[in-house]
Amino acid sequence: MANLLRLNDLSDLEIYGILDQANHFLKLSPDEWQQAPASELVANLFYEPSTRTRFSFETAEKRLGYQVLNFSSQTSSAKKGETLYDTVKTMEAIGCRAVVIRHPQEGYYRELLNANGIAVLNAGDGAGDHPTQGLLDLLTLQQEFLILEGLTVAIIGDLRYSRVARTDAEVLTRLGAHVLLSGPDEWKNEALPGDRVSVDEAIERADAVIMLRIQHERHESAMAMTKEEYHQRYGLTRERAARMKPESIIMHPGPINRGVEMDSDLVECERSRYFKQIRNGVAVRMASLQWTLQDGRKPQII
Ligand code: CP
Repeated sequence: MANLLRLNDLSDLEIYGILDQANHFLKLSPDEWQQAPASELVANLFYEPSTRTRFSFETAEKRLGYQVLNFSSQTSSAKKGETLYDTVKTMEAIGCRAVVIRHPQEGYYRELLNANGIAVLNAGDGAGDHPTQGLLDLLTLQQEFLILEGLTVAIIGDLRYSRVARTDAEVLTRLGAHVLLSGPDEWKNEALPGDRVSVDEAIERADAVIMLRIQHERHESAMAMTKEEYHQRYGLTRERAARMKPESIIMHPGPINRGVEMDSDLVECERSRYFKQIRNGVAVRMASLQWTLQDGRKPQII
């Protein structure tokens, strides 16, 4: 059993092993999905809103044959002050093998490292990391371009507060991609690896353009410009998209604010891989659960 906390904690071999396994799951029919023993439980503890991550984890768990417990921070004893640690220990005592956790506190998982009878899969920690989003972004890029090394990937928008920006910039750089970063000065992030360029240059040079959602929920003050101003200055407008390289693609972790970070017409355009990313999310989470619960730290070579 292993934890999946930060994508950068995994070796290159482990990352590529999970991507291979996810691709393998995408080729299987439902009756070929590997089944867990029917009594095994996995709990989803979401302390922040989620649609894609929560429901694709739940789908992945059910496809693998786990019994799924869904927890709401609003209707559980978290509302009465129970700590995350005690909640996870409670899940362990009930018999869960794993907990999938999304929490607003960056690094929340550090206090859980002693709860070592249960695996923890990080579904997003504040502005920290989003390992399974990073994996599904890698899988989408690999499906499109086969090799990640040498790709130019632009990450544009709220670089400071986006956990996706951090996870993607770190892992793409490590795997040999060239990362271009762009966005408003007030949300810049010196800690991210990559070259700082203008939005226009990033979009024109990239093989893949990842547009980020504005993380309003983590901002201390309201945005200093209107949504329309943001769209014109930092968004993927139709005019900017027309200047993208011929084979380049558009990605977005979701949820999208149509007409803000991206023109609404571009969400389902030919270049967009937005819904493909979401489909890949299920296979990546199946592979992540299998790696965490069944393969330990050994990547499965298909
Ligand atoms: N990309 C992502 O994490 O989406 P959700 O917040 O809907 O899970």
